[in-house]
Amino acid sequence: MKKLIAILSISLFVFSCGETETKEKDSKNNSKEVKETAPDYIQIGMDVTNTAQSTLLKHVGQAMKMGGPNAAIQYCNINALSITDSLSEANHVKISRVTEKNRNEKNVLAQEDLSIWEYYKTGAINVQMPDTLVDFNGKKVFYRPIYIANPTCLNCHGQQGTDIMDVTVAKLDELYPNDKARDYNMGELRGMWKLEFEK
Ligand code: HEC
Repeated sequence: MKKLIAILSISLFVFSCGETETKEKDSKNNSKEVKETAPDYIQIGMDVTNTAQSTLLKHVGQAMKMGGPNAAIQYCNINALSITDSLSEANHVKISRVTEKNRNEKNVLAQEDLSIWEYYKTGAINVQMPDTLVDFNGKKVFYRPIYIANPTCLNCHGQQGTDIMDVTVAKLDELYPNDKARDYNMGELRGMWKLEFEK
């Protein structure tokens, strides 16, 4: 509970920094009022993760329909999505997904992610934990938990032998020899979106 309060107060702190600052320029040079607004990191975070997530789901869903899980596996890499680059560029943000039981080696939790991850893990099954904005010495990071919220996820992250077809197990073994992202059940915490804003 203490941790929750600490995190919430960090978010509130950042929220309160998002106020609009109004600066009036010298009236002699005839310029109008200039407004400087700090980015709304939480809104951007929600928009970017919504877009990334729905694009990912769309591609995976289509590929699953056409060719089953083995055909869809290649669309699961967020960095391989064309939308990621444009979202990153437009919002000056680095987008990734991180988790404790990672499939791709690159998606492992960093030291700085641990406290938020531990906090998300305290959530009960089927309860969506809140998005969180953290300020790491001036670097803003937005986190959003990712759940096994859809039965489709189980085709590639569920129980081996029942949910994941043997041919898919073989493909995953081939592509991800150190895969830890199996044997999940519906509603479980799978990972989190991590958006690192440029300072
Ligand atoms: C067609 C198989 C497939 C389906 C369906 C699928 N995934 Fe994945 N998932 C993968 C693969 C493959 C990776 C590794 C992608 C990469 O190399 O970055 C992955 C990676 C992830 C990651 C990044 C962390 C990690 O383990 O590397 C998360 C989070 C994730 N999946 C969540 C989900 C959720 C939630 C669903 C359901 C909405 C889902 N996946 C459906 C195959 C799948």
